[in-house]
Amino acid sequence: MTLLFAIVSVLTFAAVGTYLYQVLVRKIELRDDGRLVDKVVLVRSLLSDYSSIASIDRAPAPFRHSVHGIDGLVLRLSSMDGKVILQTTAPMYFPSTLSPQGLVPITRTPQAEDVHRQSWAPDELRVLNAIGVLGDVAGTPVQISISRPRSRHSEFLRHYLLNLACAVTLGATVVAVLGFLIVRQGMAPLRMVISQANNISTHRMNTRLPAQRGPLELRELGAAFNAMLDRLEDGVQRLSGFAADLAHDLRTPVNTLMMETQVALSRPRTVEEYQTLAASNLEEYEHLATMIENTLFLARVDNAGLAINRQTLDAQAELLRIRNYFEGLAEEAGITLTLAQTAANATLDADATLLRRALGNLLSNAIAHTPRGGAITLTLRQADDGLQIDVANTGDGVAAQHLPHIFERYYRADSARPSNASTGLGLAIVRAIMRLHGGEATVHSMPGATTTFSLRFCSAPTC
Ligand SMILES: Nc1ncnc2c1ncn2[C@@H]1O[C@H](COP(=O)(O)OP(=O)(O)OP(=O)(O)O)[C@@H](O)[C@H]1O
Ligand SMILES: [Mg+2]
Repeated sequence: MTLLFAIVSVLTFAAVGTYLYQVLVRKIELRDDGRLVDKVVLVRSLLSDYSSIASIDRAPAPFRHSVHGIDGLVLRLSSMDGKVILQTTAPMYFPSTLSPQGLVPITRTPQAEDVHRQSWAPDELRVLNAIGVLGDVAGTPVQISISRPRSRHSEFLRHYLLNLACAVTLGATVVAVLGFLIVRQGMAPLRMVISQANNISTHRMNTRLPAQRGPLELRELGAAFNAMLDRLEDGVQRLSGFAADLAHDLRTPVNTLMMETQVALSRPRTVEEYQTLAASNLEEYEHLATMIENTLFLARVDNAGLAINRQTLDAQAELLRIRNYFEGLAEEAGITLTLAQTAANATLDADATLLRRALGNLLSNAIAHTPRGGAITLTLRQADDGLQIDVANTGDGVAAQHLPHIFERYYRADSARPSNASTGLGLAIVRAIMRLHGGEATVHSMPGATTTFSLRFCSAPTC
């Protein structure tokens, strides 16, 4: 930034300096051309006092005085056939012939525009040619030529240019140094952000930036940075909680397997005993496999690595299918499973496999928690912003304190009677599936009466 600041200031100063220099050169040129015009007017009036060319030869002093004192100014009077009558400088210091370009007639007063240039090595001249007459208006015409070398001010301009270059360099340097100091001062809070950021790790995530101090632009950065840290801290905490829960839940079946195997190996066993052990172990292995599969599924959903394959599904047909699938199980448990007809011909834009998995999880929970003689009802409703599927069952229900956590991973409301087949991931998967579909899963429970899990598929454009 400092370098850019310096480059920009050098360019700006140089552009301004060049402009000022050009303006000065032009102004000086105009003023000097104006002087030539004044002299021509003066010489014309002097000529009117002379009656003949010979009289000029006799008294040339007024003409010489007319250009006296102005550095480099030369007057030449010549007859109309080109013969020099008077020249205020020695012949070798002046071109022998002056171009008659722009000869101003006697009828007109010369202007600065009539001044033209004539090259005369090693310099360049500014020349004004005009006609003057001796005596009265009808007198002998005489050619007046007044010139000045263009380089008359070159020394002065060179000095000016040098001064200007020094001023530009000095100005640019001062601006660069000030720019450096300003940038340094302005960036100081950023260095603090860097040092704070260097201190943050997964073990130390409680550091926050002082977002109320520093320049306004950095305060916004600080607030955004702090908000990002909040999100990260929350994520890291959940991740470590998740890892701890996972380890805890894997430990129980692995310990059971180990214990059973140790007991079996403690003395010789019959083939039947080994077969019973293997069958029991197989059950544990299946449980472990389900847990690992469910955990992987949730991890893939979390990392957005799961592509969903949306199809337009006949919602009624899907519910019928799932009811038929669970009918046998419900019957075995002495539970009636019914399908309430409320939104016929409704379609659902969802991934069929994931929808079946979510409904399957809700129904297996319902069957597990409905006492013999109870009832499970599947209802399809048309809500304002989309379809809703309710799975309601009678039974003890879920106590109010468990409701906010029931969709969390590894959360079991009835920990007093943990089942071997339970992984505590079923509802977490239901919620993850609904999030993938842009919908949500909710629960209402009246302990002792009914518990209703609702899946809301949002189809409004605002979803
Ligand atoms: N219909 C229901 N009635 C009462 N309690 C329920 C019901 N559904 C779920 N629960 C409670 O919510 C807890 C979490 O359910 P979730 O499906 O996530 O796990 P799980 O059923 O224990 O194990 P799995 O991973 O095998 O499904 C259950 O342990 C249970 O206590
Ligand atoms: Mg379950």
